[in-house]
Amino acid sequence: MSVIPRRIKVGLELTSKCNLRCGMCPLPVLRRPYEDMAWPLVEKAEREIHGLGLKLKWLHEMGEPLLYSRIDDAIRLFPEASVSTNGLVLTEAVGAKLLASPLKRLRICVDSINPDVYPHIRTGGDFEQLVDLTRKFLRQAKGHPLRIEIQKMRSRLTLDESVDDFRRLFDLKQYRNARVIERTCEALDVNEETDLHGKFYGCVQGAFFTWVVIFADGRVTHCCYDAHGDQVMGDLKTQTLEEIVKSDRMLQMKAAFEARDFSQLPRCGECFKHGGESHAFNDVLTRVQNLPGVAKDVVRKVLDIRYR
Ligand SMILES: C[S@@+](CC[C@H](N)C(=O)[O-])C[C@H]1O[C@@H](n2cnc3c(N)ncnc32)[C@H](O)[C@@H]1O
Ligand code: SF4
Repeated sequence: MSVIPRRIKVGLELTSKCNLRCGMCPLPVLRRPYEDMAWPLVEKAEREIHGLGLKLKWLHEMGEPLLYSRIDDAIRLFPEASVSTNGLVLTEAVGAKLLASPLKRLRICVDSINPDVYPHIRTGGDFEQLVDLTRKFLRQAKGHPLRIEIQKMRSRLTLDESVDDFRRLFDLKQYRNARVIERTCEALDVNEETDLHGKFYGCVQGAFFTWVVIFADGRVTHCCYDAHGDQVMGDLKTQTLEEIVKSDRMLQMKAAFEARDFSQLPRCGECFKHGGESHAFNDVLTRVQNLPGVAKDVVRKVLDIRYR
């Protein structure tokens, strides 16, 4: 059997630099340098990811991918990958680069359309500027096959905002390639409930090895919640991806996770600090995580009741 689970997802952090310091995001307190990935490493990542028959899902982990100067070249290397942006550097010139590339999906994270709430979520962002840039980009991309998702965040602060409010603000009925999606946030940094986060019980991914996330500096982690790189499997600068996923370090971490020994797994320990160690409970979580998108959305909506 392959050491790589069938449903593994892959993320590549082109940059850990960001123009915002959002309230729900670990980026403001990131315990890693803010830096760009060197271009030869992006090329190596392409050879390694595609060489193992994997597909890239996102061109980010932390950071703002549109700040990466060769974003369009990166998209050409990974035409299957999507881009998520805070939208504040989506100028006409950047938009033209994206539209000339093979990008299929762009997510613009607006999150709140209440000008008083927006700064609490997307701290550092200028709401009026975002609305203006997003409207202009929608016009620029009209009729283009690119799928545009406008993200709306579910949280205590956004309870009175609806998908229809977002659709109206951006006049989405005239853009067939654009839609609103809703997301909740988990407490990525510290597993506590806040106005922006829900807390969780046990492995939020449902399984230890669900992601291959390559940080801007080349280190590789097994979970997209490991934003700080507390549980890296290896380093793509000096190893192949196959060596990394088969490494002794990875085997030891997996064994410790199965034994629920978190003494050397600080990230997992945070996830489990409110309980959830039972393997039976974890099996249910895994099944939920493996549900197709629509069914998962129903489960998310049920979980969202906690905000009410
Ligand atoms: C970390 S950002 C990086 C890309 C880009 N800067 C952006 O804002 O889309 C990627 C996604 O993670 C989401 N995110 C940030 N903090 C989160 C959290 N605590 N739980 C879940 N998602 C989170 C953001 O809403 C965004 O959709
Ligand atoms: S959510 Fe995105 S834009 Fe906001 S701080 Fe995190 S990485 Fe930056």
